[in-house]
Amino acid sequence: MSCVLGIETTCDETACAVVEDRRIVRSNVIGTQIDLHQKYGGVVPEIAARAHIEWLNDIMAQAMKVAGVSGKDISGVAVANCPGLVGCLLVGVSAAKALAFAWDKPLVGVNHVHAHLYAGCLVPAERVGQEAGVLPESPPLPALGLVISGGHTTLYDVQAFHCLHRLGSTIDDAVGEAFDKVAAILQLGYPGGPLVENLARSGRADAVKFPLSLLGKQSLDFSFSGLKTAVLYHVNGQGGAQRTSADITPQQRADTAAAFQRVVAEVLEIKVRRAMDAVNPRSLIVGGGVSANGAIRNCLQRVADTAKIPLYLPPMAYCTDNAAMIAGLGAQLLEAGHCADLDLSAIATA
Ligand code: KG4
Ligand code: ZN
Repeated sequence: MSCVLGIETTCDETACAVVEDRRIVRSNVIGTQIDLHQKYGGVVPEIAARAHIEWLNDIMAQAMKVAGVSGKDISGVAVANCPGLVGCLLVGVSAAKALAFAWDKPLVGVNHVHAHLYAGCLVPAERVGQEAGVLPESPPLPALGLVISGGHTTLYDVQAFHCLHRLGSTIDDAVGEAFDKVAAILQLGYPGGPLVENLARSGRADAVKFPLSLLGKQSLDFSFSGLKTAVLYHVNGQGGAQRTSADITPQQRADTAAAFQRVVAEVLEIKVRRAMDAVNPRSLIVGGGVSANGAIRNCLQRVADTAKIPLYLPPMAYCTDNAAMIAGLGAQLLEAGHCADLDLSAIATA
């Protein structure tokens, strides 16, 4: 049995987890900072970094306690060292280095975006104990990977979890960012994705026609800023804010949310199909906060079914930022021979 401790402090979640044998989640503790940032309508980097410093030791102690392990049981320390807010990354990286040094265990730096893809391989320990055969097969590789999060919208050719090639990426807003901005236009609150999804349930997606931006016939890149602007003009009117979402009916707001969400799903579907034609994958792996969206999950399931390949989606608890995905991918990287020195850097972009 090998247990890896994972540390995640890239943005506004302070998280630690212990993962056994690369895939079994023994603990997954997340301190969410939503309350600290809500009044600003988005993450304030300085406040986030300070909260990580204040919370990390407690969250780590909880993760170790829930998993029932101590330092001697840990076989490696994995930390998300890129990409993210640099002040936030530094907190996790410094803590991971200190622990690896004190416990004399290997340290590994994990790319947070790649880790989102690994989340679909994780299974909570409680389920492994209760249900026979619950640990699914690892995704057949090469796979097509799609990360849809607040900061990234990226397609990957996944040859192995330590060998990913980027096929395409957003040229402007990330898909989660577009959800958050549409939530702000509709005055729903922050973070907006789940609120837009909830409102869309009572909306008619065909009541409004928003543009589909595909960036040319072959492109595997994404663009969501035009869609966001179309929603803004639809709700507020063009040429300055003449109206707000308070001036349209509840049904119109719901229709707007549903129509926006449908266009996002359509764009993702078209790009995934294109990428499948380009790389002929043996499976589809999706991760990131937006993969919690039911309409998008269903849409991607249809795409995978049509292509007759398995779809790997994270369990709901591992869609948004967490440290289990960092520990899991870290364990995989350690097994593949990746190991960092104590001069591991925090890197804002990747
Ligand atoms: O992966 P994540 O936790 O953080 C980043 O790495 O960015 O993703 C957060 C994003 C936010 O933009 C949030 O609004 C979005 O994921 N999100 C959703 C849903 N749940 C979270 N978007 C659409 N539908 C959801 N149910
Ligand atoms: Zn993330």
